[in-house]
Amino acid sequence: MVEMGEDIVILNEVYKIFGPQPRGRAFDLVRSGMGKNQVQAATDHVIGLNNVSFSVKKGEIFVVMGLSGSGKSTAIRTVNKLFDVTDGSVLVEGTDVQQLAGSALQAFRRTHMGMVFQHFALFPHRNVIDNVSYGLKVQKVDKRTREDAAMKALALVGLDTYAQSLPSELSGGMQQRVGLARALASDPEILLMDEAFSALDPLIRRQMQDEMMEIQGELRKTILFITHDLNEALRIGDRVCIMKDGAVVQIGTPEEILTQPATGYVAEFVQDVDQGRVIQVHEIMQPPAPLSLDTALADALTRTTERSGAFILDAFGVPTHLFTIEDGARASSMGTTELVSALRTDFERCKPEDRLNSVYAAAGRGLPIAVCDDAGVLVGNLDPRHIMEEMGRVENLIEDFEKEVFM
Ligand SMILES: Nc1ncnc2c1ncn2[C@@H]1O[C@H](COP(=O)(O)OP(=O)(O)OP(=O)(O)O)[C@@H](O)[C@H]1O
Ligand SMILES: [Mg+2]
Repeated sequence: MVEMGEDIVILNEVYKIFGPQPRGRAFDLVRSGMGKNQVQAATDHVIGLNNVSFSVKKGEIFVVMGLSGSGKSTAIRTVNKLFDVTDGSVLVEGTDVQQLAGSALQAFRRTHMGMVFQHFALFPHRNVIDNVSYGLKVQKVDKRTREDAAMKALALVGLDTYAQSLPSELSGGMQQRVGLARALASDPEILLMDEAFSALDPLIRRQMQDEMMEIQGELRKTILFITHDLNEALRIGDRVCIMKDGAVVQIGTPEEILTQPATGYVAEFVQDVDQGRVIQVHEIMQPPAPLSLDTALADALTRTTERSGAFILDAFGVPTHLFTIEDGARASSMGTTELVSALRTDFERCKPEDRLNSVYAAAGRGLPIAVCDDAGVLVGNLDPRHIMEEMGRVENLIEDFEKEVFM
């Protein structure tokens, strides 16, 4: 687990209204609870953000997810003050960014945040290393230092051998990596990424997500990541904030979003998601209830719960044999009274942090799976049927929701 620090980006009751009189009637109406569309119809003002509060903790990847027009980019633009807010406050590393202007604002942006956007322009006539070190050049960092920093950033994204190439000589995915290197070169605490991978085809996109998480494992930046893709959000986010019509609908870990969607709106999103990729084994495993080898078969049969079976452990707590009700009943019907004759050794093992998808095949054998820590010690029993149930649970939630709404 990532050690999460203090809140480093804080949006507090932020409103952003677009139009000639942002603090006029539109502001009153939205505060009285009127929705985005009605306010727009009544006042011709557009609600960008409607009472948005969230905070991003040091070292986490915080993902803002929502449909087109839900206010994601507007939210991120209040953080680097590309937009003034209509009301509320935005704090970045303790600084009220709304109070910054001119060169102080520029300096703050340059030293505290790196930005990566969907279509950021690399300078076409500058080579890769000059593109990456450009921000440092503007900060008047000497050539040697900034080229060292740029090479380090390029190495992080795996492009150090392309330092002398021109952007036009790189693929789309490679150009996006140069963009990431450019954001990393000045070693900012915060990375702002708005649909940074959205233009990439799915395979390259997954690669970029993996690489970013790898880099993040090393550097522990604070990342505010915007996407309209829930799969991407759940894959990379430590926490995910779901927005609709300028307002926050839910903030939670990927697991919370999947298993406890706050509203039907979230549930509808969630139905497209492959949950097996998100839910971890430890969330659904049972506490281990091991048997000792000298237990009588009849006792073992009464003490073992029907579904998750029981393991026999060695002196170190490592499972050696599996006992199931089915095997026990069969042995018993053949007249045996000894536990040993009902045991099997051909059981599957997994780790508590494994995702359900990775144990799916093992679960297909229908036998309980031993959940073991890195030392091989049993920490839980995984019933294969629980995996199937868990993967079906959100579907049921959605069905319930649809019944509520349509019946
Ligand atoms: N400069 C602007 N002037 C007027 N309205 C704007 C402006 N920028 C954004 N909006 C409006 O604010 C709302 C939120 O837009 P925003 O760009 O934040 O959405 P988004 O969630 O980033 O969408 P997308 O996924 O399409 O990028 C939209 O209704 C949009 O029309
Ligand atoms: Mg946007």
